Amino acid sequence: MRRECVQGDPLTGARRSNPPRGPLVCYSPTRASGDLRSRSPGEGEIDVIELVYQLLEQVGFTHPLHPAITHLPMGMTMGAFLFGVASLRYGSLATTARHCAVLGAIFVPPTMIAGIFDWQHYYDGDWSSLFITKFVLAFLLPILLLSAVAAGSRERADSRFPIVLYALCLFTAIGLGYIGGEIGYG
Ligand code: HEM
Repeated sequence: MRRECVQGDPLTGARRSNPPRGPLVCYSPTRASGDLRSRSPGEGEIDVIELVYQLLEQVGFTHPLHPAITHLPMGMTMGAFLFGVASLRYGSLATTARHCAVLGAIFVPPTMIAGIFDWQHYYDGDWSSLFITKFVLAFLLPILLLSAVAAGSRERADSRFPIVLYALCLFTAIGLGYIGGEIGYG
């Protein structure tokens, strides 16, 4: 399937009523509005992702899904780091940091799913280095978060090791957000 990538306002992608802004928007001219089968690899299969966007459009929701949920893992990761640092002074906040990290890790999978949906719908599954990096960091983040939780439960209360891990989580989340911004706004 031939794919076109347009700069700036992607409204030229005829089937999109409210696409994300951004410098790189890819769409396949062969995928017209209402055609749920055109991207399907196997004949007769319904394109579930397009079906989801069309159903949402019918109830008036025409925005990308991913930005609505990214705040959860982003915020929880930042909270984990900040409470982790604060726990050096107030030891009981180490528990708060761990709770934030667990919640952050729980919300990474739904955030990834929403990201993959937007990636398919708005960027036509483009495999640019931005998206490859996004995938790597997205898989790394929950591993780091859960490692920090495990280290926080195991290490002595005054250990700095969990905080180093929380800092790595923070950099990973910042990387995900920065690349997200590059994708969306350029
Ligand atoms: C495989 C996983 C992922 C993919 C394919 C992906 C894809 C995308 C895409 C396409 C965008 C541009 C906005 C849009 O159209 O939705 C974006 C933005 C963004 N992503 Fe991801 N993402 C993934 C994982 C994550 C994770 C796990 C986080 C956070 C922990 C995250 C944080 C962000 C943020 C903060 C933005 C900017 C949102 C905004 O414009 O307001 N992403 N991502």
